[in-house]
Amino acid sequence: MRGALDGENRVMAGSNAVEIRMVRRLGAGPRRCSLPDGYSMRWYRDGDKETWQRIQEDTGAYDPVAPDLFDLEFGESFESLAERQLFVEDSSGAAVGTATAWVTASDRASGIGRLHWVAVSPAHQRRGIGSYLTEAACWRLRELGVDSAYLTTGSENVAAVQLYLSLGFSPEVDSQAEVSAWRTLAESLEPCFRVQLEGFAV
Ligand SMILES: CC(C)(COP(=O)(O)OP(=O)(O)OC[C@H]1O[C@@H](n2cnc3c(N)ncnc32)[C@H](O)[C@@H]1OP(=O)(O)O)[C@@H](O)C(=O)NCCC(=O)NCCS
Repeated sequence: MRGALDGENRVMAGSNAVEIRMVRRLGAGPRRCSLPDGYSMRWYRDGDKETWQRIQEDTGAYDPVAPDLFDLEFGESFESLAERQLFVEDSSGAAVGTATAWVTASDRASGIGRLHWVAVSPAHQRRGIGSYLTEAACWRLRELGVDSAYLTTGSENVAAVQLYLSLGFSPEVDSQAEVSAWRTLAESLEPCFRVQLEGFAV
């Protein structure tokens, strides 16, 4: 059974949030997806620690963003970020979104990798950038040798859950607290996503 909120969920959670987990078989590969006009994607490069921290702060979802959050989250493998951490830039070259395809040694052994720290600056949300980042990171997870992706988020994060449901992630539930959290969450989801939850033990 999962316990306390971890990582991004711990710092963003509301008082009633429960950590929930979603999974997706990568199968033949992520869906095709494109960026809106004027945006482009690039991989991590030296100096992006500040870029990443700034995007997480911009979202307002994490209060506060610890100054060493990037180091805490990725310190065990900075050298791998050039092939695992994505950024989307706007037409001025400013980074406005990020996601990370994260695979630990034990993840690799069990064939599953983590979609980690997806974030889009508010002025650029609802344009498909979060979807693009999710698809691109899943694609990279597959290239890194795993055949499933998982993520965790807080049960009050309707935007994120709808994003992930729309891209084929499903709930993975292993405690009664999570079942209750999904039931409460479902009431806030758009009807098409509520229908999607039917058939899962939530
Ligand atoms: C979650 C987040 C990454 C979505 O990024 P985005 O670029 O706006 O996502 P997209 O434009 O690709 O949205 C795809 C779908 O997700 C859902 N969605 C996205 N934002 C939503 C919102 N604010 N409310 C409800 N549904 C939302 C919708 O179904 C949307 O499709 P639609 O716009 O056609 O209705 C962004 O809101 C964010 O950075 N939030 C703060 C950080 C966070 O919670 N990260 C996730 C941690 S697990």
